[in-house]
Amino acid sequence: MTTALSGLTGPLLDQAERWTAHNYHPLPVVLASGEGAWVTDVDGRRYLDCLAGYSALNFGHRHPALIAAAHAQLDQITLTSRAFVHDQFGPFCQELAELCGKDMVLPMNTGAEAVETAIKVARKWGYKVKGVPDGQATIVVAADNFHGRTTTIISFSTDPDARADYGPYTPGFRIVPYGDLAALADAIDDTTVAVLVEPIQGEAGVLVPPADYLPGVRQLCTSRNVLFVADEVQSGLGRTGDTFACVDVIPDVYVLGKALGGGIVPVSAIAANRDVLGVLRPGEHGSTFGGNPLACAVARAVIELLNTGEPQANARVVGAHLHERLNALVGRGLTAVRGRGLWAGIDIDPALMTGRRACEMLMNRGVLAKDTHGSTLRFAPPLLVTNPDVDVAVNALTGILHS
Ligand SMILES: Cc1ncc(COP(=O)(O)O)c(C=O)c1O
Repeated sequence: MTTALSGLTGPLLDQAERWTAHNYHPLPVVLASGEGAWVTDVDGRRYLDCLAGYSALNFGHRHPALIAAAHAQLDQITLTSRAFVHDQFGPFCQELAELCGKDMVLPMNTGAEAVETAIKVARKWGYKVKGVPDGQATIVVAADNFHGRTTTIISFSTDPDARADYGPYTPGFRIVPYGDLAALADAIDDTTVAVLVEPIQGEAGVLVPPADYLPGVRQLCTSRNVLFVADEVQSGLGRTGDTFACVDVIPDVYVLGKALGGGIVPVSAIAANRDVLGVLRPGEHGSTFGGNPLACAVARAVIELLNTGEPQANARVVGAHLHERLNALVGRGLTAVRGRGLWAGIDIDPALMTGRRACEMLMNRGVLAKDTHGSTLRFAPPLLVTNPDVDVAVNALTGILHS
């Protein structure tokens, strides 16, 4: 019971605890409103949001341009299904394809659905274009990946919490260590249709691969006639200071989600060229809500923001300040800091506290962050934060490390 907590927070936590499945272990905070990088709870306490909805809120809470786009679309039409075409659909598809430098896109809703879509497209490409014998396609993935929660996706997870007790598992995946090009080369054979990797592993703790890794993946995929599928659901759309975390390499398939919906609606998509996405025929794949008018209108406003380059530039500049300040704490309560742009994986000395305990203490100092794997924390605030916002977060962290 948490009713000991003051005001409305305790009863609302108790109600949530009583009536929902316990598939999450949220911090004991109940949020009621948000603006920009800041949120307010039901009892009027303010917090800096350093999780930003796992990067779904890259543009902050209730960004005026995104809210305006949503409002305007609510007054027109919200859902048609793909049985009919609506007036936001063509513009959205073109604008997203152009942002990605690809011929076409396929919209879905959640990140996991987009990953599933990429898997299906890669398999069909393998059978129809590459000539892999029917039913034998393999996809190579990285250990410690996080690509979502469907039964197929957890089949190639290496996280026991995500996987155990949810079999039988979908076959057709080979797992190799992340960042290991030799292992990747060994795992690819004539049945391999795709290599599916996160350019930076987010849920694993913001793991940045060696500099030669993504170019090496590109080179291997090209030379072995395999699709390079980059899961940019969390790393993409500005987080790292660039539109995509794949900066110097171009994957065959981008998988996008989270921030594409502007923190308002779930919007995901894959983007690829015609030789890949062109393998799909009517009736073979789809989603009732994928590419709906509201989603497309909001996503178009997101793309417009990204086309200014401003969110990316702010992530670079303020991200440099974040990393400079965090790096100064290594050896002073932190054992390591990783990441790029406004994305940091922070390893707290396990002798001091767990990541969960750190998040609870940060919450009490007005900063909301999320732990992952033992004593690792993530800071991933909205991309519009300022240096003083970052100072609020790092000062709070410094305070709990040295309290
Ligand atoms: C890299 C990556 N791919 C896919 C997903 C799944 O997205 P969703 O939760 O919208 O299904 C996530 C979610 O954290 C992710 O980080």
